Amino acid sequence: MESQIQKLKSGMLADLKVATSEVEIKEVEVKYFGRQGLFGDIMKSLKDLSAEEKQTVGKAANMTKKELEGATGKRYAEVEHEKLSAIAEEEWMDVTVPGKKPSVGHRHLISKFIDDIEQVFAKMGFEMAEGPEIEKEYYNFDQLNIPETHPARDMHDTFWVKNLEKYVLRTHTSPVQIHYMEDHKPPIRVIAPGKTFRKDSDATHSPMFHQLEGLMVDTDISMANLKAVLTQALQQIFEDDSIKTRFRVSYFPFVEPGMEIDCTCPICKGNGKLGDGVPCRLCKQCGWLEIAGAGMVHPKVLKNVGLDPEKYTGFAFGMGLDRMIMIKYRINHLRLFFENDLRFIQQF
Ligand code: PHE
Repeated sequence: MESQIQKLKSGMLADLKVATSEVEIKEVEVKYFGRQGLFGDIMKSLKDLSAEEKQTVGKAANMTKKELEGATGKRYAEVEHEKLSAIAEEEWMDVTVPGKKPSVGHRHLISKFIDDIEQVFAKMGFEMAEGPEIEKEYYNFDQLNIPETHPARDMHDTFWVKNLEKYVLRTHTSPVQIHYMEDHKPPIRVIAPGKTFRKDSDATHSPMFHQLEGLMVDTDISMANLKAVLTQALQQIFEDDSIKTRFRVSYFPFVEPGMEIDCTCPICKGNGKLGDGVPCRLCKQCGWLEIAGAGMVHPKVLKNVGLDPEKYTGFAFGMGLDRMIMIKYRINHLRLFFENDLRFIQQF
């Protein structure tokens, strides 16, 4: 009997040794300890023994069973360990290897410049306004007192939206004046930067460009206010207190009087030539740069939005932003803004 137990023990140990998965170990367990298991057979045959033998053999059997249960547990642990080491071996990675740095983008120079300008005007109490880039003819032209026959409405200059009659890609930011005055009563102090579109494309013109509209309307607004606001703004934008402005008579249907505003050239400081006597190429030696169209809001425009021109006056201006950025950051090709060449973009 005892030798039978011995045999069973070495049999099970051998079986466990070759069991290489949980399932296989389970099978070995069933084979020996299961209801029809080999161990059970031994226990059953105990009943034929004498009381004395029953005790010694029974004891031995129980001890062996315990031992074998221990061995089974150990085998489970081994197999689990082997499994984990295999995974570790396969999926091993060196966490100390320096990572790949993702390249982080940033806002485009034009967007940053617009933010800066907003700050400058915000300090003078100007709020931000927006209008649609696909604009109704009514806002882009009619309400701004631009007559039916005005050349700006020409197919050659303006992008008319196909299949959408009376819609254009806005040719300037001035329609935002109308939107804003429709929704707000004076006092009005607002700027509206944004994209504008004209059928222009050469070295210094892009069909999409950026403007900044300014509008101030109240009971006592004069050209002196326009001069003060723009001079102050340009000095801050170019970070140069020496900048001066001058007005030249001009014409826009939505202002009266209308003017072009020039500022002293930030490169040669208005001298027309640089320190070493070299002629300034930016301002073509004249010392001044054309920077904005402007004027006093036309009484008809005020009437169009329901404001009494006897009571209210205001100024408006429209600046081209792209050239200002080029001047400030000494960029010599307009195209660089729009070509998405990272070697350029990453410099700012
Ligand atoms: N909208 C004009 C243009 O695009 C500029 C302008 C704005 C002129 C406001 C006067 C007043 O040329």
